Amino acid sequence: MHLIDELKSPIVFGHRGASKYAPENTIAAFDLALASGTPAIELDTMLTRDGVPVVIHDRTVDRTTDGKGRVDDLTFDQIQRLDTGSDFSVDFQNEKIPSLEQVFQRYQGKLLINVELKNYHAPLDALPRIVVDLVRKMKNQDSLIFSSFNFLNLLRIKRLLPEARVALLVENSCGGRVLASRAFSFISPHFIHPHTSYITPDYLAREHAHGRRVNVWTVNDMAAAARFRDWGIDGLIGDDPEELLAILHESH
Ligand code: G3P
Ligand code: MG
Repeated sequence: MHLIDELKSPIVFGHRGASKYAPENTIAAFDLALASGTPAIELDTMLTRDGVPVVIHDRTVDRTTDGKGRVDDLTFDQIQRLDTGSDFSVDFQNEKIPSLEQVFQRYQGKLLINVELKNYHAPLDALPRIVVDLVRKMKNQDSLIFSSFNFLNLLRIKRLLPEARVALLVENSCGGRVLASRAFSFISPHFIHPHTSYITPDYLAREHAHGRRVNVWTVNDMAAAARFRDWGIDGLIGDDPEELLAILHESH
């Protein structure tokens, strides 16, 4: 059975981990999410020059590390030497960019993981195939959701791993809506992951009528979280998962 089917809705996902309190997309941020009882995390992944899927949001390491350069111009070895914690706080000095494999190994059986395929700069690269090879090796497909704004990634994942649970990410734009409606005919995503601006009771009713569950990002406004909860949202993806959990446990 897939882990998501065992979790109670709405499911809280730590966006890039508990990224309000620790550097995003790091073991520290994922550990913090896990320690607070968060059942799920969201992370971003793309390939290094030597084809290793690493967990990072931006195309370059400039914003989040003490280094410079494009992820796909650096080898995994070079990336591992970077410090991705000090800029956030001295408490996280020497935190490293993890590989996707390190994250899979550490949280196997402990967390539902939403893997966002972030190869938007190289949409036809080998990322889906390499990630699927890793998933087959780890045998952890039952604890993963694959998401992407690029539906080709989801098509490729489903072709390679038919049992995969996939989620279409939808941008906050008119174009995003149009592209999403086209994409539905090619993939039958289990989930839709829209920007918060989409969420209304009508929107949720429509998606539910199509059999899709709705996990919304990025929910950092707790009043909005409470509204979405009351309207029947399926999942909340936010930087402070502990506070989101508290909202869900509030009596209402
Ligand atoms: O997966 C939800 C969200 O992470 C998508 O946007 O830019 O934070 O990766 P971004
Ligand atoms: Mg993301």
